[in-house]
Amino acid sequence: MATKLNQIHEGKAKKVFATNDPTALIHEFKDDATAFDGKKKGQILGKGSVNAQISAALFRLLEDHGVKTHFRELLDDRNMLTDKLNMLAVEVVVRNVAAGSLAKRIGYEEGIKLKKPIVEFYYKRDDLGDPIINEDHIYELGIATESQISEIRNTGLKVNNILKSFFDELGLTLVDFKLEFGLKDGQLKLGDEISPDTCRLWDKETGEKMDKDRFRRDLGRVEDAYQEVLSRVKGITKVGGKF
Ligand code: TMP
Ligand code: ASP
Repeated sequence: MATKLNQIHEGKAKKVFATNDPTALIHEFKDDATAFDGKKKGQILGKGSVNAQISAALFRLLEDHGVKTHFRELLDDRNMLTDKLNMLAVEVVVRNVAAGSLAKRIGYEEGIKLKKPIVEFYYKRDDLGDPIINEDHIYELGIATESQISEIRNTGLKVNNILKSFFDELGLTLVDFKLEFGLKDGQLKLGDEISPDTCRLWDKETGEKMDKDRFRRDLGRVEDAYQEVLSRVKGITKVGGKF
C-alpha cells in the first residue's frame, strides 16, 4: 500500500507527493482552476475528483492500446498513484478542429475541421510564456533526442486516434488536447493528466463546449459540464443532446 509522504511540488491543478516507494508519486487533483498563464484564477467544485477519475479511465484505455503511461492506480477519488518520471519541458498539443490559439494564429474560424491532425509543441517556460516551438528547437534545447522526438509525435497521433473514437462514441468531438511526456529508465511515458482541463470536447449534437473553455470564457455551468463528461466516460448517461 502506497503511503503519501512529503509534498514535492504544487502545480496549478495538482499537488505532487513523494511516497514510501521511491519510484512512485501521488498526484492529488485540486478543484483550483487557472487560465491565461495563471492570470485568471478560480475554483471548479468537484473538478479534482472528476479529472482524477477521467484521467484514470483514459490512461487505462491508452494502456489497453499499448500506450505507455505513468498511471498505476487511483487510490481514492482524487489521489492517483503513478510512476515517477523525469518530465520533458515540452507540451504536445494535437488538434483535429481549429480552436483556441490555433484559430487565432492562422486566422481560422473556430470549428473548421482540419485536413489532418496538427501536432504542435510548446516550450514549458513560464517566464517565456510557453512559446510554440518545433522539433529542431526541442533538439537544440536538449529536451529530447531525435528518435524520442519522433516517438513523441507518433504517440501523440496514436493517442489522438484512440481518444477521438472513444469520445465520438460518447457523443463528444475531440477538438484538441495537450499531453506531457516524461522518461522512466530511458523509456518515454505519458505523464500528467488527460481531462476536460487539458482537452477541448464539444457535444456532437448541440456543439456545446464541455471543457475548461466554459471557465476560460465565462460560459457558465462549468461544474455541470465536467460532471457530464465524467458520467459519459463512466457510461451512466444517455449520450448526446443531454447537456
Ligand atoms: P490552445 O488552443 O490554448 O493552444 O490549447 C490547446 C489545447 O491544449 C486545449 O485543449 C487546452 C490545452 N491546454 C492545456 O492543457 N494547458 C495549457 O496551458 C494550454 C495553453 C492549453
Ligand atoms: N492552465 C493554464 C494556465 O493556468 C492555461 C489554460 O489552461 O488555459 O494558465
